[in-house]
Amino acid sequence: MAAFLEQHVPLQLVFGMQWGDEGKGKVVDLLGEHTDIVARFQGGPNAGHTVEFGGDQFILHLIPSGILRSHTECIVGNGLVINPESMMEEIDFLEAKDIDVVSRLFISRNAHLILPYHLIIDKTSEKIGGEAKLGTTGRGIGPAYADKASRTGIRVGDLLDDTVLKPRIMSNLNIKNTILEHVYGQNPLALDDIMDVLRRFRERIGSCITDTRKRLHDKIRDGKRVLLEGAQGTLLDIDFGTYPFVTSSNTTVGGVYTGLGIGAHRIDRIIGVIKAYTTRVGNGPFPTELDDACGEKIREVGAEFGATTGRPRRCGWFDGMIARYAVELNGVNALALTKLDVLDCVDEIKICTGYMVDGKIIDTFPADCSVLNEVEPVYESMDGWDDPISGIRTFVELPKAAQDYVRRIEEVAGVPVGIVSVGPRRQDTISM
Ligand code: GDP
Ligand code: IMO
Ligand code: MG
Repeated sequence: MAAFLEQHVPLQLVFGMQWGDEGKGKVVDLLGEHTDIVARFQGGPNAGHTVEFGGDQFILHLIPSGILRSHTECIVGNGLVINPESMMEEIDFLEAKDIDVVSRLFISRNAHLILPYHLIIDKTSEKIGGEAKLGTTGRGIGPAYADKASRTGIRVGDLLDDTVLKPRIMSNLNIKNTILEHVYGQNPLALDDIMDVLRRFRERIGSCITDTRKRLHDKIRDGKRVLLEGAQGTLLDIDFGTYPFVTSSNTTVGGVYTGLGIGAHRIDRIIGVIKAYTTRVGNGPFPTELDDACGEKIREVGAEFGATTGRPRRCGWFDGMIARYAVELNGVNALALTKLDVLDCVDEIKICTGYMVDGKIIDTFPADCSVLNEVEPVYESMDGWDDPISGIRTFVELPKAAQDYVRRIEEVAGVPVGIVSVGPRRQDTISM
């Protein structure tokens, strides 16, 4: 059988199995070589997906990571929330690197916009939140999805007609300005300033706005290969994550169906991206967190600082409970195990295989924070390895201890590893 990365798969999903930042950008870029279309289905500029090749580093927030392969088309589905200024900045950044964006980008007319009041509400709520602070990225994600659910959101398609757009913004501003002034103690926003940005945005990406559901289905019928790029991770899912310390979208497989309009039986391969250890940015429970010198070392060696906000990421051991939960929830077929090279820096590696609660071992992940805060992880210890592994390109060349670690992760998660990533660059990869 062909190596994992070479297999012909018509429609596949790449998503995060932990709390985000698993290395999805790198995996999407790798698979992009044999892909025609890359589509995002949820989230917004809270995402920060890093791709490294040719000595360059690209961090993508809203535009699918497939944009870096010149033959791919990129779709921003209806499930996203888009900040016009962030998207324009991202297009500027890519165009400055001679990457043609607008002719290959298709944006759903039903995607929602993040507007200046969403940013202010997000940041100010966090500031006054005290203990209840979530540690959001401050990108206006929650307030924009809240407007979508309240049916007051502004959609990308509204941009196309000023006679629709202006009254909608005006009616929102009436309410938002009252809230900004009287609840949050902020200055009111001016309609003209918002309209100016939106008109600039329309000029820039007006030609990209389309019915992405139809386009995607037409392309699938034409035999094009499609890659779906998840943002955030399973434990940040609004329904299945560690609520309330989650994002405001479905980051798990269900988000694909509502965020793009694809039928449940269509996905041929589901690839869960999982780090060889665990990280989390922002607040909330984290049972295997390392609050010690070992955690510091992993943070330093793994360069664990947020790609969107620069915040230090909390680091801890691989959690098999999370892996099994994410496999079950998403129907994962294979793992992309990333950052194995970072564990070069530890002598003894631990894997959590269960949680102890009230003297009993439980075998399912309790997403409920009150339970999760009390669990005691049950660990297995494994030997580390002496030699650096980032130059290794085949599984059999890995040190025996590293091979054993990968095999143990497969057993604990219950699915095979298809990709082992041993460094940030394209070539630092083992295809199984
Ligand atoms: P994403 O949000 O899931 O796309 O992940 P991020 O880009 O936020 O964070 C992953 C970070 O790890 C980025 O800086 C990547 O360049 C880097 N990275 C990805 N895979 C590997 C790997 O196997 N080893 C190392 N050392 N770094 C990696
Ligand atoms: P990628 O796609 C890691 C976290 C925030 C916070 C919580 C809610 O790069 O993996 P939000 O701004 O979404 O309302 O914040 O979710 N968060 C992420 N953590 N990676 C991400 O994206 C994240 N996107 C949001 O830190 O804890
Ligand atoms: Mg990230």
